[in-house]
Amino acid sequence: MKEQEKRFPEDYYNIDKEGMYIYIRDFPLYLREAYLNSSWIQLKINPRNIVIAGMGGSGISGEILKDYLKSNRIINIHGYHINDVTKEDLVVIISYSGNTEEAISCFKEAVNKAGEVIVITSNGRLSRLAKEYRVKVVEVKQGLQPRAALPFLFIPLLVIAERAGLISNIEEELMNAIDILSKRDLKSNAIALSEKLLDKKVVIYGTPLMRSVAYRWKTQLNENAKHAAFFHFLPEANHNELEAFNSMKDMVLIILSSEREEHRIRKRAELTRKHASKYLQVIGLHSKDPELLGILSMIQLGDYVSYYLALRKEIDPSPVEIIESFKKELGPYV
Ligand code: PA5
Repeated sequence: MKEQEKRFPEDYYNIDKEGMYIYIRDFPLYLREAYLNSSWIQLKINPRNIVIAGMGGSGISGEILKDYLKSNRIINIHGYHINDVTKEDLVVIISYSGNTEEAISCFKEAVNKAGEVIVITSNGRLSRLAKEYRVKVVEVKQGLQPRAALPFLFIPLLVIAERAGLISNIEEELMNAIDILSKRDLKSNAIALSEKLLDKKVVIYGTPLMRSVAYRWKTQLNENAKHAAFFHFLPEANHNELEAFNSMKDMVLIILSSEREEHRIRKRAELTRKHASKYLQVIGLHSKDPELLGILSMIQLGDYVSYYLALRKEIDPSPVEIIESFKKELGPYV
């Protein structure tokens, strides 16, 4: 087919050889499935803190939980050590593959230090270690890219937080969010947005409720579209990056914000947009949804944007060969 005859996106879907599209489209269905599969989870202790250890596409679920709950009792670890955990704390080790060495290291520390340990994984060394140490495992279905498994990693955390008393009546809010999300068409907006990002480096800001969502946009643009994307969050960005807008002329700034933020934050988002617009292209995406729906909907929108950007660049969104070969280059972890 001649280049000028190609229609977007219809003629590009064959680039997506492993079917990433399905995982993005069916995000609401998977959220529901994950919730039904998590109902059995019970805790042994009534934890002071929930420490969540995981990396990349797995670890981000803990950050989303923290932003949604606005709780300092959720502590996220993206590294090898859980540090000063005590018997009053619950540690959740989250690794889709079960072979991420930072997560394995945290697991080994947690079984000695924590009051309770739960593992969320699909397989691998963590799954075997959990059996050996008789630790509870939330088993996630196999064969997905970790970032596509987000519903199956995030929802068990939400249920754990409910069992720990950090939130109540999660079912109603979640099911309402899923119902609305399943009827929402985010694709046309995503297709249009992806065109704006094509030849640009992207920076994404999130207001506090959207902080980890902005990070998810960045990581999805990196991994699905192999695209340069960076992230920052408000109000912190107002204390540094404001000074750099003048040197960001070749970038697009996306500001993710929510009507549910307090007044000063909403004002900051507007002012940031005004200031940045003097120098660079700014796209403001403001959610009017309730908190959980707003987070989930903005995640799905960003996933679609990264997907369509990948197709525009004629890149298969699923493989992450460089991440995998980097892990191999590190050598076995003992
Ligand atoms: O998206 C990815 O593939 C990565 O960010 C992985 O999630 C990360 O390397 C950690 O691997 P896992 O999720 O299997 O623990």
